[in-house]
Amino acid sequence: MEKILIIGATGKIGSELIKLFDGQKQLVKLLLRANSKELCDKYETVIGDLSDKESLRNAMLDVKTVFLLSSPSPEQVYLQKNLIDVAKELNINHIVRVSAMGIEYDSNNPFTITSIARWHNEIDKYLEASKIKFTLIKPNYFMQNLGGFRNSIQEESCFYATITPSAKVSLVHITDIARLAYHVLININDHINKSYDITGPEALSFSDIAKYISIDLNKTVNYVQVSEQELKTQLSKDNIPEWFIKDMLGFFKGYSAGCGERINSIQQVANLKPTYFNTMLGFFK
Ligand SMILES: NC(=O)c1ccc[n+]([C@@H]2O[C@H](COP(=O)([O-])OP(=O)(O)OC[C@H]3O[C@@H](n4cnc5c(N)ncnc54)[C@H](OP(=O)(O)O)[C@@H]3O)[C@@H](O)[C@H]2O)c1
Repeated sequence: MEKILIIGATGKIGSELIKLFDGQKQLVKLLLRANSKELCDKYETVIGDLSDKESLRNAMLDVKTVFLLSSPSPEQVYLQKNLIDVAKELNINHIVRVSAMGIEYDSNNPFTITSIARWHNEIDKYLEASKIKFTLIKPNYFMQNLGGFRNSIQEESCFYATITPSAKVSLVHITDIARLAYHVLININDHINKSYDITGPEALSFSDIAKYISIDLNKTVNYVQVSEQELKTQLSKDNIPEWFIKDMLGFFKGYSAGCGERINSIQQVANLKPTYFNTMLGFFK
């Protein structure tokens, strides 16, 4: 098999993905921004940055496939377009990119007013126009995002958001995203120019989630719906950037309208066993 360059290996999805390549050292190369003895011992690594085209040229010299993700940020479009430009220059065969579910423009879907949706749309279209073969992996809301509520759950036995308490969301576990990415990367020719929405195997409301967490912590934990203004005020105190707060409210509005409810798990996409929310027990302690 031809070598794969993995970008984002230190992040949530990437760190799960590279575990699946453990023992297949010759197959993957990791692009890292900083040296890591632990990763260098286990994998071939190269130092580079999506902002530095020369480092990308060097990293991609002997690879045919790239796995691409980076953190959501106002620089994401510039950074990932850099990678696509260099990949085109070097005749890279295929890019597997993590995008997001529900970001295609649709006036009925409040997700699409978010910056994150706009950025992903722009990069997805740029990749498509590059004529490099691609696969888009488009996850729903991560189960692990709920870690952001841990402090208030522990201190106040409550967690707060603007989502309607009964609105269902098919949250996905990051290991399922990594498993799908692995499946695509090792069967790359079966996934040319395909796009996969990826969700968990069940849709849960924030009230359902509060019940799971109550069992986990052996105490009653409640989900409390607050107004957009209340959440904004709270998040601003925590120094969260304004664009991120605005996007979070946009996504929550979409979930309240049922836009995150559809189920399309790795079972449907790749016939792999999906991860249920009950495996998150222990996560909130
Ligand atoms: N959270 C959700 O619910 C959700 C849902 C759907 C889609 N997504 C999408 O998932 C993606 C994020 O995935 P994740 O959560 O696994 O990522 P993450 O944990 O934020 O990790 C980001 C990775 O990208 C690397 N990176 C960032 N900037 C870089 C640069 N300039 N050059 C090279 N590498 C760089 C980071 O490396 P360092 O260690 O050097 O920083 C890290 O390995 C985003 O595009 C997001 O929109 C998220």
